[in-house]
Amino acid sequence: MIQAPKGTFDVLPADSARRDQLELQARRILGAAGYRRIETPAFEATELFARGVGEATDIVQKEMYTFDDGGGRSLTLRPEGTAPVCRAYIEHGMHKLPQPVKLWYLSSFFRAEAPQRGRYRQFWQVGAEAIGAAGPEVDAELIVLLAELLEAMGVREVRLRLASLGSPETRSEYRTELTAYLRANEDKLSREVRRRIELNPMRAFDASDPGTQEVIRGAPTLLERLDDEDAEHFAEVQALLSDAGLRAELDPTLVRGLDYYTRTLFEFSSDALGAQSGVAGGGRYDRLIEQLDGPRTPACGWAAGVERILLAGSAQPTAAQIVDVFVARGGGEGGLAFRIAREARAAGLAAQLELAGRSLKGQLKQADRIGARYVAIVGGPDAVSLKEMESGEQRELSPDEVIPAILRGTRL
Ligand code: HAM
Repeated sequence: MIQAPKGTFDVLPADSARRDQLELQARRILGAAGYRRIETPAFEATELFARGVGEATDIVQKEMYTFDDGGGRSLTLRPEGTAPVCRAYIEHGMHKLPQPVKLWYLSSFFRAEAPQRGRYRQFWQVGAEAIGAAGPEVDAELIVLLAELLEAMGVREVRLRLASLGSPETRSEYRTELTAYLRANEDKLSREVRRRIELNPMRAFDASDPGTQEVIRGAPTLLERLDDEDAEHFAEVQALLSDAGLRAELDPTLVRGLDYYTRTLFEFSSDALGAQSGVAGGGRYDRLIEQLDGPRTPACGWAAGVERILLAGSAQPTAAQIVDVFVARGGGEGGLAFRIAREARAAGLAAQLELAGRSLKGQLKQADRIGARYVAIVGGPDAVSLKEMESGEQRELSPDEVIPAILRGTRL
């Protein structure tokens, strides 16, 4: 038996009501703030991610689905949405539009990761990107919109962690400083941390052994090394968030698996999720567009995992499908039943037609099962009897009277 590939899943009708709801909330919340929908192709030139996401990241090193298109070009199923959106911004000359250009997307992405709860090889993200503005209110507004979306979806036990990375130059100076500091205290560090000092000195911040922890307590943090402009930008983002009533924890050790970030960096996690606790993340990426050969353009954005939102969201009753009328067939009048269903839909009603050849009794049972408010039983070329399911009342009508009668009923 052929099954869905490992790490993928089908979205069955029973699951789609909550996904629809997420889409609706995203459109409402982001649309009200002036964000407009964008969709980019499911695959792109591999180089876009190698250059955009970063050659040294886990995503590019290990997690991309890359293939040859048959003509010698290397393509990759998109592992994320920011680099593609920036590619589209450059390709369509969006820098000529009023800035910032505010975009959102709801798309699927692909990463060859080890599957587990909340981690899949094809997954969906809802994301937002504001391209072409550098001010701290852009960052703060994006974070507030994300918090609103998570709240609207009932995501529980949410934590917001915040940091600033400053510029790549500050970061590289800081790295040198941290490496030297760790070297000077080498004898107290765990073997693992010591071995990786040059490769990844930041790892020391996650270590759990008492020796390393003691060294780390005295270590300089990147936040303390930000230059004046970066520090001021970060202070304003924090002030705006606190004004908006959002509690954020400063986390100088926050790291994310993408190389394009500068300045503000943030992550929302939920303890309701277990190991894969990251619900959403993002930050500023002021150098990315330039890195992709576009004009120097500041930008900021985030993406939230759809499956993780649904896993961490409060269970909501799936909205029952509304059925105004079920059109049943009492005789051989297929044409009339078909016409009534069609006209009912044109009048804005939800109408379902009997399609399974059930007996009249079976059809009434089906109408009851799907919660139809009315059943129109077509008995002959001119004879329709309309039954109101709740009261059980039934009336004989001419075909033209059926829809007006239902419409009158819906206004009661
Ligand atoms: P990311 O942190 O790699 O950021 O992904 C964002 C969210 O996508 C995660 O917080 C998680 O909820 C979800 N996610 C990631 N990988 C998986 C997976 N394998 N299975 C299920 N869900 C997953 C980005 O992708 C950036 N493009 C965000 C961004 C936008 N930064 C600036 N603008």
